[in-house]
Parts: sequence; C-alpha cells; structure tokens
Amino acid sequence: MTLQKKLRSDKLSELLGRVRREISERIPHSPKEIGAIGNSVLNEGFCFSDNALFVERGQGPHVFDTSGNQYVDFSLGSGTMILGHANPEVVTAVEKQIRNGSIFSRPNSLAFQYADLLSEIQPSPRKFAFCNSGAEATMRAIRAARGYTGKPVVAMVNGAWHGSNDWGLFQEDYESDPEAPKLAPRSAGIPTQIGEHLALLPPDQNAIQAFVEENASRLAMVFAEPVQGPLPLPGAKRRLEHLRTVTRKNDVLLGFDEVVTGFRLALGGGQEYFGVEADIISYGKIAGGGLPIGIVGTSLEIANHISANEPDAENIVYFGGTFSANPLTLSAGLATVKTLAAEAESIYPRLEETTDLFARRMNATFERLDVPIRIAHAPSIFRFIFTDRPLRTRRDRDLLEIDRKIQDLFYDLLLLEGFHIGTNRINFLSIHHDESMLDELAQACERAALLMVQDGAFA
Ligand SMILES: Cc1ncc(COP(=O)(O)O)c(C=O)c1O
Repeated sequence: MTLQKKLRSDKLSELLGRVRREISERIPHSPKEIGAIGNSVLNEGFCFSDNALFVERGQGPHVFDTSGNQYVDFSLGSGTMILGHANPEVVTAVEKQIRNGSIFSRPNSLAFQYADLLSEIQPSPRKFAFCNSGAEATMRAIRAARGYTGKPVVAMVNGAWHGSNDWGLFQEDYESDPEAPKLAPRSAGIPTQIGEHLALLPPDQNAIQAFVEENASRLAMVFAEPVQGPLPLPGAKRRLEHLRTVTRKNDVLLGFDEVVTGFRLALGGGQEYFGVEADIISYGKIAGGGLPIGIVGTSLEIANHISANEPDAENIVYFGGTFSANPLTLSAGLATVKTLAAEAESIYPRLEETTDLFARRMNATFERLDVPIRIAHAPSIFRFIFTDRPLRTRRDRDLLEIDRKIQDLFYDLLLLEGFHIGTNRINFLSIHHDESMLDELAQACERAALLMVQDGAFA
C-alpha cells in the first residue's frame, strides 16, 4: 500500500494526529515561548517545527525539556557524552580551567599531557594535532594524507560521513552503478573540483582490491570509519583487515575516521577493538568531553610533514587555528579520557554486553510481531533499521527502509514514553545506561510496534 493510501486509513491518521498533538503540547512553537524575539537561528535542526524538542539541561543519562519533562537520552550529544551529562570529574576540571582563563594562543601543558595519554592508548607511537570539530579533523587528515604522499585522491567507503567540510559533503549518487558507485555533492556551494580528488570504493572486496591496485599511483589514502553509526553492520573486522592489507600492499595510506568510534568501541577505538592499525586517525566527540574538539593523530613519519613539527621541510602541511588546542576544551577532554582509562576494563565489556543483549531481544521481538524493524549494532551504538531485508550497503538501507513518516511515528511514540532519540536516529549508551533502562526501552518499543501494527502502519 502507498503511504498516501495508508494515511487515508482512519486508524493510522488518527494515531498520527494524536501523537503530534501530544508532542506539540509539550514543546514550544514560537520564539516567544523560549524567550527569543525572532526565529533567526540558521543551524541545522534549530527550527520551531512540530517535533523540535528544546532541551534545557542534562544530568547523567537524562535530558530535560523546557517543560521539565525527563527523557532517557539515547543521543548523548550525537554520541559524545559517554560519561553521561554533567559528569562531576569533567565539571570540576572545566570549572578549574575557566577560572584560570580559556585561551592564550601559546602552548599549554594540558595539550602535552593529553597527547601523552593518547599516545599510550595507541598501538604504535603517534603525534597529535588538536582542533575544534570532527569536520575540521577529517579535513586536516585528508590534507595531511595528500600533502605527505603528494598524491591527489582520497577514497571513501559507501555510506561514509566525515562531517560538513567541503570534502565531507559528497555522497553516493544513487543513480550510479551500485557495483561501481560515483559521488555527487550533497550541498550547493561546494567546489565541484573537489569531487575530482575523491573516489568512492565499490562495495565488493575483490572490486576494492582491483580499484586500489589500478589507482595506487594517484591514491593518497583510503579513509574509513571503523563502524558507521547510521548502519553498524557486522563484519567490520574483516572489511578493515582487508583494507589494511590492500592499502599497505599498494603503498596507499589507511585513514580511520574515529570521530564516532574513538573511545567508544574501546578506549583505543576501532584500532584496538578490531586490532587494525591506521596511518592517520581523526577523533572528535567523546575526546572533547562535551566541548568542541577534533584531533588528528599521525604516525611519526607523517608528523614530520606537519608545519608545527618541521616548519622548514618540504611538502609541509599547514595545521593551525585560534581555538586549536585551547585549554578549556582540553581540560574536559583530558578529564573524560582519564576517567574512561581508569575503568576501561569494566566499562567497555559492560557497554558491549548491554547493547548486544538489547539488540538480540529486540530482533526476536520484532520477528515475533512480524514487523519490518531490526536493530543493527556495534558496542554501545545501535540503530533501528526499518526493513527486515538483508542489507549490504547504505544505499540498500536508504532504498529498502519503509517511509520516513512511519519511522518518525515510531520515534514519536518513544518520545512520548520518555526516550530521547536524536534527529540522526543513531543511539548511544553512556556508562549510566544499564539493563533496566534498556528493558524499559524494549517494552516501549514493543508497545509502539504493536500500536502501529494495530493501526495499519506496516500494512
Ligand atoms: C564519522 C564522523 N566523522 C566526522 C564527523 C564530524 O564531526 P563534527 O560534527 O564534530 O564536525 C562526524 C559527525 O557526526 C562523524 O560521525
């Protein structure tokens, strides 16, 4: 049945209307209701729409909206707050630092202490550059790879998201051959010439090998997320090991974008969890403890080509910026990573087990209810996938999932039950998310799915 036909079914449109009404009673719909004069913010997601939840504060695993409603937060600042909101160690470190000033445009000791700690958790020696967002880190990682190798092209994996710099804003063109996919800009205003220096790897491993071999002389780096948040598929270890073997054999760098997976899959991120080492790594999110951060880690050899390290050598790559390595962000990041490091042996296995149990339970429930929903997951990351068909690529996901409006209804029902799922629909666990919270979420998911079945949402 088409969505239009479905929505004409009385029961479903009544359910949609009721859910929308209940949500809109909870959230502000005008600038005045939040103490503003105009609706003049241009940031993505900051608008007065029917489902714009205005979060006022967060504490541990919870966030609270403008009316004081409490939600269990599964977004956690897009995966950032692994220690929960307002963690006492982080708050103390930031309070201490802000009293002493937050930016001096001179080296500070925190940067060196933080880089030392990061070095300890890497499989081999590294140097690090600090910047202010994941998008800045990936942009610098790409620049470092191109500068160091002198080769022009960086290859990405299908479904990749490397942030909103001009390199990251290219996505798979779904009109192109799925076995030899091409990229297209996903925003106006991007120099299309950048696309000439980017490539998209084919999904098949033999085709990847052939692509890297054929393009080795112009390929600076293959850049991959160890796990993609929007589609955390099984088999990542095998795929990453294959990329490592093929790149090494063809003298191409391997970059890991660990903005999501760093300090999340394991203290040492995807490198540690999958036992695969990259040449260049970008970090963000958790690394800043809730303040804006990006970090680029490189091998010592590549570091010799970064401006701060060797200003007079040839092929020097410039890394700089007013707020780069500022002590306020570093105080939050260092406190976070120190806290994680102190209890890594218990935190990470527990997070993995909790996610795993939840995913298995939900997949069994969705099968029993015969609804087209499944859970894809990696340690402490999961996403509801709205199809029961097997998926190989992000293109498969986007083309096979049921209509967005029906997906949104599921999420809205969860919101009404007190669960906050982020607008990008990727779910994360913090150290506070225990089995009882996931049990409550599982029960809410089952109720939502049952209601949707009864009212014809999946018909
Ligand atoms: C894998 C990955 N890389 C880079 C980025 C960009 O990070 P930021 O939003 O901090 O710029 C993101 C953000 O979600 C990401 O998921």
